[in-house]
Amino acid sequence: MIFYFSATGNSKWVASQLAFILGESLVSINDSLKKGLTDCQYQLSEDERIGFVFPVHSWGVPTLVLKFIKHLELQGYENHQVFAVCTCGDDAGYTNSILKKALERKGLPLDQCFTVQMPNTYIVFPFFDVDSQEVESEKLENAQLRIKKISKEIVDGINNKSLYHKGVLPFLKTRLIYPIFKKCATGKTKFHASNRCTRCGLCKDICPTLNIKTSNGMPYWGNNCVQCLACIHNCPVKAIDYGEITVKKGRYHFKRRKNG
Ligand SMILES: Cc1cc2nc3c(=O)[nH]c(=O)nc-3n(C[C@H](O)[C@H](O)[C@H](O)COP(=O)(O)O)c2cc1C
Repeated sequence: MIFYFSATGNSKWVASQLAFILGESLVSINDSLKKGLTDCQYQLSEDERIGFVFPVHSWGVPTLVLKFIKHLELQGYENHQVFAVCTCGDDAGYTNSILKKALERKGLPLDQCFTVQMPNTYIVFPFFDVDSQEVESEKLENAQLRIKKISKEIVDGINNKSLYHKGVLPFLKTRLIYPIFKKCATGKTKFHASNRCTRCGLCKDICPTLNIKTSNGMPYWGNNCVQCLACIHNCPVKAIDYGEITVKKGRYHFKRRKNG
């Protein structure tokens, strides 16, 4: 059983590939969050594995994934293999140790943790933008090979640390920047929609925290944003911006990628 969270499709794709290769079922954390985490009880069969696939957010685990894990109840759990795959634009810092602690609190040991580099989606900070077409293609090509390698390690039950990319200064990134991100990037937000908005309502439908409401069809954001960036990247007409900082930046969604 593979639980996945995804804002812009990368982790969903990785989770689907793994589920296909490993013969595991898929559970969307996004759907569960939208139902208010009222359906977090799952029955495990004897021979399945437990997997978590999600994007790295500021060198840590997205707060929504931590929230889901807190509510998770796995019936029939008896030392099943537990693995995680973190997707990231570059590197993951010590995301693995944050996840390990969260799972341990639920009595689940994290047996294996891997990373897969995917096209970058973080665009709300100066100098951060989506990848060029070349970088995007290269990452996706490498990702396919990496997923095959990871699947093999999962089947063999090997914890191969070389398939986890923590990057440089992981301590600084995870222990200092991640807590600041969690504090500052959640809650009230600078997202707004321009007059390009067609009032299609997609942003409202996909927001995992139900933070987007509409007035006469025009979206407005409440105080429960976690900066997953699903809204800004999914908007089909590029009508959403974060303050002014994203005006000249690209947008990315796995399904609508340039090379898709
Ligand atoms: C809020 C936020 C923070 C991010 N932080 C990191 C990071 O610390 N390191 C990194 O390599 N990529 C980072 N990224 C990029 C994503 O992890 C990456 O693009 C991921 O594959 C997106 O997955 P998704 O499409 O399933 O949401 C961040 C993206 C967002 C939206």
